[in-house]
Amino acid sequence: MTRANEHHLKAGERIDKSCARRRKQISEAIRRAGGLNSHPVAYRAEEDLLWSTMVSKLNAIHPRVASSRYLQAKDRLPLPVTHTARIDDVGQRLNNSAGFRLLPVDGLIPIENFYGRFADDIFSTALYLRCPSRPHYSPEPDMLHELVGHVVMLSDPLFADLYRLFGEATNNATSNQELQAISQVFWFTMETGLVQEDGRTKAYGAALLSSSGELAKLDRCPVEKFSIPEMIESDYDISAYQGKLFMAQSVDEMASEVRSFLNGT
Ligand SMILES: [Fe+2]
Repeated sequence: MTRANEHHLKAGERIDKSCARRRKQISEAIRRAGGLNSHPVAYRAEEDLLWSTMVSKLNAIHPRVASSRYLQAKDRLPLPVTHTARIDDVGQRLNNSAGFRLLPVDGLIPIENFYGRFADDIFSTALYLRCPSRPHYSPEPDMLHELVGHVVMLSDPLFADLYRLFGEATNNATSNQELQAISQVFWFTMETGLVQEDGRTKAYGAALLSSSGELAKLDRCPVEKFSIPEMIESDYDISAYQGKLFMAQSVDEMASEVRSFLNGT
């Protein structure tokens, strides 16, 4: 199973040629000089502009739709607005607050490695930015998704512990069926999870929090009661806007259910 299963392109969808060339350059730079909390890429003016535009837009939306845990995490680990974040900076600050370090990868790594490294306090992160022709959503993990979505949340010790447990459960899995179940639960919680706060629906999942397109459509998406057995049975399509989301009554309820599932209890 590769991470391409998690974040794959829809059949027939093509990456813009100049985006594909840039992505290849970035992959080669990572292969030459990548390492924990290193950032061997200098961004171009148009990439900084894309980052700045999208982060400004998300910063304006988050106070209305993001969970209070996420908003607190963002205060704890603020990301730059005027230029693309660098993981040598963000990774160092994250390491100081929650112990996690960032490992640059080209995005298409086996999913066992992606989850499995969480057990060693390592989050694998892509360094390229989404194509400017489709700025509101990226079908594959890009810097905006990784940093704005996952890495900010990893500065919250409760979430950092849950990611570690996902890693340990992945490393202990003995069948593809188990891995698939872990992947489904990760998707419906850490990627697309919702929580109720003061009678309102708020997002804590990274795929939602890093996509202004997803956040704008949240009100219209069917929402199910939090249920891990249902998550394991549900289909999802990473390459499209979400068709089904699960909402917990609180972050504590979600964390307790996810811990029980991952510990096999
Ligand atoms: Fe993700």
